[in-house]
Amino acid sequence: MSTREVILGVGGGIAAYKSCDLLRRLQDQGFGVTVIPTPASLNFVGSATWEALSGRPVTTSVWEKVDEVRHVSLGSSSDFIVVAPGTADLIARIAHGRADDLLTNTILASSAPKLIVPAMHPAMWSNPATVANVQILRDRGFFVMEPDHGRLTGKDVGVGRFPETSRILAEFNSIANPVHDLIGRKVLVTAGGTREPLDPIRFIGNRSSGKQGYALARAAARRGADVTLILANSELPDPSGVSCIRVSTAQEMFEKVDQAFDGCDLLVMSAAVADAKPLHVSQSKIKKGALTSIELAANPDIVSTVSSRKKNQVVIAFAAETSLDIEEGKRKLLSKSADILFLNDVAGSEIFGSDQNQGVILISDKAQSVQEINVDRTDKDTLADLLLDQALHRLG
Ligand code: PMT
Repeated sequence: MSTREVILGVGGGIAAYKSCDLLRRLQDQGFGVTVIPTPASLNFVGSATWEALSGRPVTTSVWEKVDEVRHVSLGSSSDFIVVAPGTADLIARIAHGRADDLLTNTILASSAPKLIVPAMHPAMWSNPATVANVQILRDRGFFVMEPDHGRLTGKDVGVGRFPETSRILAEFNSIANPVHDLIGRKVLVTAGGTREPLDPIRFIGNRSSGKQGYALARAAARRGADVTLILANSELPDPSGVSCIRVSTAQEMFEKVDQAFDGCDLLVMSAAVADAKPLHVSQSKIKKGALTSIELAANPDIVSTVSSRKKNQVVIAFAAETSLDIEEGKRKLLSKSADILFLNDVAGSEIFGSDQNQGVILISDKAQSVQEINVDRTDKDTLADLLLDQALHRLG
């Protein structure tokens, strides 16, 4: 089989250096990679680095090697174009059909699938101009990833960070080797952590970022499912191609899941739901001296309640424990009438908010015996696909 060819377009942002790793990982997967940097990006990573890593010549301008008509030959011979990092300026230029360097000329001249990996300051990412440009590109069939949330180059924190290489590769592979095995399926996913108010200022909450459920919703959508994500208190943006409903409390999440459950084929309960809430919610701030104890009332157990009336639905639950207690995982799987449960050890700070997860998939069969599949540390996108694979076996 001949090597599949990727053009790696590099925009002028500090994240350009992270694309060196992306280039290597694409080569590890057997792709031939030609790098086309923008002239501005050479301020961050020079041509010599790209030539050494790719083993191929690197040019930025259509005025070099004119006899080869590089933008047309590169554009037509590539199977994929990945733009990483995509800066606000580069995204704007591509959206408006500009052709002022070799990269933008090549993008215009190529019909290959195109993935853009944005990286910029959160204020630039959320600026209406960028939002509109991203929408134009998505409407034209470009795949534009959501950047990560986190620390930026300066002291600022927000959405705009260049995603981890593993997440880019997962997205790229889904484009390069698309699987549409969930077409026609309705998938309901919960994610994030509920917040139970005590007064207008305080709440009982947890450390869930929503990333694991978000990865599941995106993976199911990519595989062709009609996906609804019920997202509690997460800073992540609405994922594209997914209908996203924002909630805050366990009761609100319960109502949304309860409404949608009968019409879905698969429920994935990855949200961290508070088991209890303050019995009394004060309308004004509780004074320091009165804050000595909190009386609690139980929240509905969402997954148990809806699973008890399941017909052909498959239900995936999660168990967040502070040790990998398999017996407790099995107990939860069976007592909550779930079909599959992912048991993760959340002690320490390595799962909540991280891009990676690890644990054990527990699968119940009709005789209530439980199969165990160990999952070594991997990114949340890969785990999402593993869980969906298991759900698909059950869906038939
Ligand atoms: O969001 P991230 O930062 O990516 O972190 C991911 C995660 C750690 C939150 C996720 O992997 C995870 O473990 N989610 C489940 C957390 C949890 O609530 O576990 P639990 O053991 O308390 O609950 C067991 C199951 O019952 C879960 O599927 C939960 O959604 C469900 N539940 C719990 C309480 C309740 N009142 N109703 C429920 O449906």
